[in-house]
Amino acid sequence: MDVVTLRAVSTGLAEGQAPLKVVWAKEGVLLPQGEALDARLKGRLRQALKEAGLKAGESLLLYTEEGPVLLFGRGEDDRESGGRLAQALQRLAFPEALVEPLEDADALAEGLLLGAYRFDRLKTKREEKALTLLLPGVSEALLERARKVAEGVYLARDLVNEPPNLLTPEALAERALELRALGVEVEVLDEKAIAELGMGAFLAVAQGSENPPRFICLRYAPEGAKARLDLVGKGLTFDSGGYSLKPTESMATMKGDMAGAAAVLGAFKAVALLGLPVELRGYIAACENLVSGRAYRVGDVLKTLSGKTVEVMNTDAEGRLTLADALAYAEREGAERILELSTLTGAAVVALGEEVAALFATEPSWGERVREAAEKAGEKVWPMPLEKAYREKLKSPVADLKNVGDRYGGAIAAALFLAEFVQVPLVHLDIAGPAFARKAHALGPEGGTGFGVRTILKVAEAL
Ligand code: BES
Ligand code: ZN
Ligand code: ZN
Repeated sequence: MDVVTLRAVSTGLAEGQAPLKVVWAKEGVLLPQGEALDARLKGRLRQALKEAGLKAGESLLLYTEEGPVLLFGRGEDDRESGGRLAQALQRLAFPEALVEPLEDADALAEGLLLGAYRFDRLKTKREEKALTLLLPGVSEALLERARKVAEGVYLARDLVNEPPNLLTPEALAERALELRALGVEVEVLDEKAIAELGMGAFLAVAQGSENPPRFICLRYAPEGAKARLDLVGKGLTFDSGGYSLKPTESMATMKGDMAGAAAVLGAFKAVALLGLPVELRGYIAACENLVSGRAYRVGDVLKTLSGKTVEVMNTDAEGRLTLADALAYAEREGAERILELSTLTGAAVVALGEEVAALFATEPSWGERVREAAEKAGEKVWPMPLEKAYREKLKSPVADLKNVGDRYGGAIAAALFLAEFVQVPLVHLDIAGPAFARKAHALGPEGGTGFGVRTILKVAEAL
């Protein structure tokens, strides 16, 4: 799916030829290439700006002697400005445009590609409109990187947007196997193998569904890899809540409960395309949480891969059960440090809203590295405390732990639960808020956002 194509060109905006030229404006101020075009137009652009006054994301289409010019309102963030511009251009009929580069050309290119994303695979009537954007003075290498990053984010978004009847655990594993074409080693364990390993918590969550679970292991190890990073992603292809059933409205976005897994797969794709010199491992426990005569119950006691026992006090706190086994497995396979991403708790969304992920770290320096990477990637995360005092909340009268605490501090309790299953430094990103957008935003339409892919990439690049 190529919704938009970016091309580097050497001639500047003023001299270049295209059916449309895009000039950025902010508070009446133009950028250098826009200035040059304005000089050729004898101040026509500046005059129009004075009269119209553009806010971020607003645009003004002028028909000049140099051809059509779109004045576009630049915001604070170059990535978001690019995203808004791509969406505006998709609404116009021009097949090609020359776009003035912004200061952060990397972010602009990423924004243009991400903003143009659509998920229309399941529509019987699709709009087949191709848009080519020419970027004067931007290097081809920069665009190539942006394309690869976007490919990873697109994959993550597609997987989240796929409906749960089509993207079953087996289908998710198939999508992982497709990464073999890029040099990623992928191994998929079936129900029997999962049982033989002793992943009793993961299996319990999976047992209510006719669709069997899959445990997906990924490895990307180019020659000369200088460091290792282990990723774990929550892979619930659908979360009904189980016997602790969710109300319909809360279930509406639960096809996206595999967004952590999607981010891991998207990151593998981008890292492999970019050929980063790092060893990447990935683990995904893929299953669905359903209700049936075979489903796990409230009160069941499960034996996890780590050996610890867990009393199920809420079948809707299923993600941490599947992750407990995936994390223990990652450690068993030699992980030195783990970055785990999951749409884990509604409490994280209550605490930080829909745009900011909660970051928990069992070791401060590892947490800080991930936080910095997220900042560089333009993904919003905020550190939260792994408050040991709340460990009490997870005490069970019959097992080592129970899977839920009380009404308060739910995101922290969930993080504390995960931390019980690993010794190596762990960062847990609760992406329940930002993984799924309820409405269109600067960087894309409603639905899966691909949150996490860009952060993982920055972490991998800084290893
Ligand atoms: N998948 C949900 C968390 C979630 C909520 C993701 C909203 C995205 C948006 C998770 O499995 C869940 O249901 N968690 C429960 C935990 C509770 C029972 C302790 C929750 O947050 O309500
Ligand atoms: Zn749940
Ligand atoms: Zn869930």
